[in-house]
Amino acid sequence: MPNNDALPGSPESYWMSSTDSTRFAPLADDVTVDVAVVGGGIAGLSAAWELAESGHSVAVVEAGRIAAGVSGHTTAKLTAQHGLVYERLRRTRGSEGARLYARSQQDAVERVAELAGALAIDCSLERTSAYAYTLDRGALKHLRAEADAAREAGLAADCVERCDLPFEVAGAVRIDGQAQFHPRAYLLGLAAALTARGGVIYERSRVTGLTEGEPCRVTTESGATVTARDVVVATGFPVFDRALLFARLSPRRELVVAAPLDAAAAPQGMYITEEEGKRSVRTAPLPDGRRLLIVTGESFTPGSGHVGERFRRLDAWMHERFPVAETAYRWAAQDNDPTDTVALVGPLHPGARHTFVATGFGGWGMSGGVMAGRLLSALINGERPPWAGLYDPRRIAPVLKEAPALLRQQADVAMHFVGDRLRPAHADTVDEVAPGEGAVVRVHGSRCAVYRDDDGVLHAVSARCSHLGCLVAFNAAETTWECPCHGSRFDVDGAVLQGPAVRPLEARNLDS
Ligand code: FES
Repeated sequence: MPNNDALPGSPESYWMSSTDSTRFAPLADDVTVDVAVVGGGIAGLSAAWELAESGHSVAVVEAGRIAAGVSGHTTAKLTAQHGLVYERLRRTRGSEGARLYARSQQDAVERVAELAGALAIDCSLERTSAYAYTLDRGALKHLRAEADAAREAGLAADCVERCDLPFEVAGAVRIDGQAQFHPRAYLLGLAAALTARGGVIYERSRVTGLTEGEPCRVTTESGATVTARDVVVATGFPVFDRALLFARLSPRRELVVAAPLDAAAAPQGMYITEEEGKRSVRTAPLPDGRRLLIVTGESFTPGSGHVGERFRRLDAWMHERFPVAETAYRWAAQDNDPTDTVALVGPLHPGARHTFVATGFGGWGMSGGVMAGRLLSALINGERPPWAGLYDPRRIAPVLKEAPALLRQQADVAMHFVGDRLRPAHADTVDEVAPGEGAVVRVHGSRCAVYRDDDGVLHAVSARCSHLGCLVAFNAAETTWECPCHGSRFDVDGAVLQGPAVRPLEARNLDS
């Protein structure tokens, strides 16, 4: 039985609750532009801005509201330090590959600072250092190698024994010259600048079709279309996947808790460790002069359950270590890990000439999304930045080098696709489903995802994910159905909350 009353904080993202909502009209009539951008998160809006700035007419087409998906629920660290990545990149991509990665990500950090200044966007951007720390003295050798690789890649990196966290660490890799910001304040400012420049944004306009050609055509749920010479697909997990990129992406969900603390007690930097279930820490300024401590962690595959327990564990970790007031917010974010470490940004498939994709940021979508926007804009303008090959989704050699991760991902999906069907239903009858709970129940021979609301009313939809047919599982802490295969999420009536699915779960009648 879920006990969501006991969960800490209000169930909303601070970024969302501290900014106004947007009200861009849906796409009602057919339009023609130079470039259609599908998806209004940081990658899509950054691409749209860069393209508009270089003289293209642009339309952003968003299924929900802009900057309200992953970009409205991130930790919002703007950094080239992506955990401990440089030693691995040096090994798998060589020193030059690691250098290009660092340069492209640091370039994105600087681009946000530049645009926030030039467009006068008040997004609480603060320059600070990023730390990847360990509690384990045995891991110091690994940290030293990481600092060495990050330095060789051109970053201001060092291995240090201390940082200003209020607990002892064994050591950390510190990278200077990074930043943190309010992601929605930045993106809403960027959207305003985009529309002032003639760009158009359509919200509540789910894209359901893409016809490639010269020109391309994007079709939305309402039937209205956008005709464009080029199309950028920046929807997180790509809603159009003609190169089977889904086989190279693993969805990962992370939880966030946040609580105010006195500014004098706030750590100055941004911190991350892969230990203790992964922990990521930063602070943000609050209007009353205090800081908001934001703690992220408890990585898990969507649909794997125990989300309430994970929230409580993360919250207890925060309260045990920091002198915070009562927890104010809790939220969650989801991103996709590429099997070979590097995001997939470039042509949508091997034969693509006018369609492009940005995906697989591995939880580092702030710098990654801005980098992607700049890279795709350059490719559409006929330029080729030095890191275009590193991020090219058509790459083969690095994928083969990290083949074990690819095979593991496919084995996990196969296990869910086949294994979940053989497993008994989660409940034998709908009567067993208590208020506030959801369960997969076999009804008239087919598996239904059944939720009973607090008034006792049953909501029943097909338990087969509308993407590729894996069985969904209930997340009681967030009242959603989640697919473990590629991370699609649905509300209790089947509406898509997050792709790659674009169609709702089919409604089921429990009586017939
Ligand atoms: Fe792919 Fe559900 S998200 S099968």
